[in-house]
Amino acid sequence: MRRIIYTSRPLTEANLAELDAIVAESIARNTKVGITGMLWSDGANFAQVIEGDHDEVGATMDRIRSDPRHTDIEVVLDRAVVSRQFGNWAMRRADDGEASTPSTTFLLGFALGERTASAKRLYEIIIATER
Ligand SMILES: Cc1cc2nc3c(=O)[nH]c(=O)nc-3n(C[C@H](O)[C@H](O)[C@H](O)COP(=O)(O)O)c2cc1C
Repeated sequence: MRRIIYTSRPLTEANLAELDAIVAESIARNTKVGITGMLWSDGANFAQVIEGDHDEVGATMDRIRSDPRHTDIEVVLDRAVVSRQFGNWAMRRADDGEASTPSTTFLLGFALGERTASAKRLYEIIIATER
């Protein structure tokens, strides 16, 4: 199992309709290849967690990287893990109802535990909307 967390900046308007379209497209593909995770956005940034089989996560990340809807993709974490954090979600908007608390808690907890510049940026992005 592998987990990737990245941040990026939308190049299209990241409103609710656009986010739901991305999530719907992601669910369709992720279901076929056993990818799970969540997508967070404040409209000006994305943060996404994708997890699953090592090679499938890599192939999915390659597609996401070349997507013209966002830029400045910065991988915050890419590591082997033994279990999923978002096992029931083929992809889900992080602010979608009861998803909100576990999603934000996960991202914040992770960002606080890391000392890297990209984790600090993730923390600042998440905290900016929590005030
Ligand atoms: C922020 C963001 C998150 C995305 N997340 C996923 C994802 O989890 N899984 C996925 O298959 N595609 C995801 N996509 C869509 C892919 O970038 C790509 O458009 C899609 O997989 C189709 O790829 P293809 O045109 O090469 O077939 C995401 C796109 C964006 C902009």
